[in-house]
Amino acid sequence: MSVDSVLVVGATGTQGGAVARHLLERGVEVHALTRSPDGEAATDLSEAGAAVVEGDLDDRERLETLVSAVDGVYCVTTWDEGIETEIERGTRTAEVAADAGVDLFVFSSVTGARDSGVDVFESKGEIEAAIADLDVSATVVRPAYFMQNLEREREAVLDGTLSIPLERGNALQMVDVDDIGAMVATAFANPNAYAGETIELASDELTLEGIGARMADVLDLDLTVEHVSVADYRDAAGDRYGDMYRYLNDEGAASITDLRATHDVDFSRLETYLERAWP
Ligand SMILES: NC(=O)c1ccc[n+]([C@@H]2O[C@H](COP(=O)([O-])OP(=O)(O)OC[C@H]3O[C@@H](n4cnc5c(N)ncnc54)[C@H](OP(=O)(O)O)[C@@H]3O)[C@@H](O)[C@H]2O)c1
Repeated sequence: MSVDSVLVVGATGTQGGAVARHLLERGVEVHALTRSPDGEAATDLSEAGAAVVEGDLDDRERLETLVSAVDGVYCVTTWDEGIETEIERGTRTAEVAADAGVDLFVFSSVTGARDSGVDVFESKGEIEAAIADLDVSATVVRPAYFMQNLEREREAVLDGTLSIPLERGNALQMVDVDDIGAMVATAFANPNAYAGETIELASDELTLEGIGARMADVLDLDLTVEHVSVADYRDAAGDRYGDMYRYLNDEGAASITDLRATHDVDFSRLETYLERAWP
């Protein structure tokens, strides 16, 4: 059995966009949820073959109608409006999916969802706990730091310096967002195998020197790397981001070797992502 139609929450965004693309490639009917059906991202989705559906995670009744039309639901949540709102939205979506009896509910959580001390990571742990209490077939993916975050450094990198809060000797687990899409689409293609799984997702793991070396090589430039201590970064960016980078420096829960061996996903090395996204 595979899931033939999926409501994709966040389809106009980074992770959901990758999920929608991979589902469409596999011939799955994609119902792309957005609050802005006339926006550019929605138009692109429609041109790519998705059915764009208007809705808001705050509107349970509308969600019920939308979920009743599909066999599977993918959900990502954001914390821009506070973690209580994030937890409510994720939990509500899972409850609606459970009530409808979908074949698979996939939730994009985050590394450090449990016991990391990072509030915007543990908010997703709360949603995971709510899902576990429901009678629903569910898969949780926990992505690491997105490789795509490096795009924020593009100008500085092209000027010759890479500087991120990664201390000497620490390796950062990173995931290509495209691999999140591939992993989620694989779960919907094999719901019986993936129901009940929680997957820590990373595609590569490198020190700052390793990241810099690959960037210098792919982009053919001289690049200096500058370590920023988490303490200095905390002073500049505040405790939430300080906590986040302390965790990302010290921990890394994914086993990239196991992921490559276990799933039908061609996980990207950093250089593969750079060759594709940094022309
Ligand atoms: N950056 C990283 O390294 C990293 C790593 C792991 C996990 N994460 C997590 O990733 C999450 C963000 O994912 P992303 O980057 O894919 O998000 P994103 O690109 O910011 O997109 C957010 C999506 O959520 C939708 N959305 C927001 N509020 C909604 C609502 N009330 N009802 C319906 N749809 C709503 C938006 O749709 P419309 O605006 O079209 O309605 C949009 O498609 C964060 O929670 C973060 O913690 C980030």
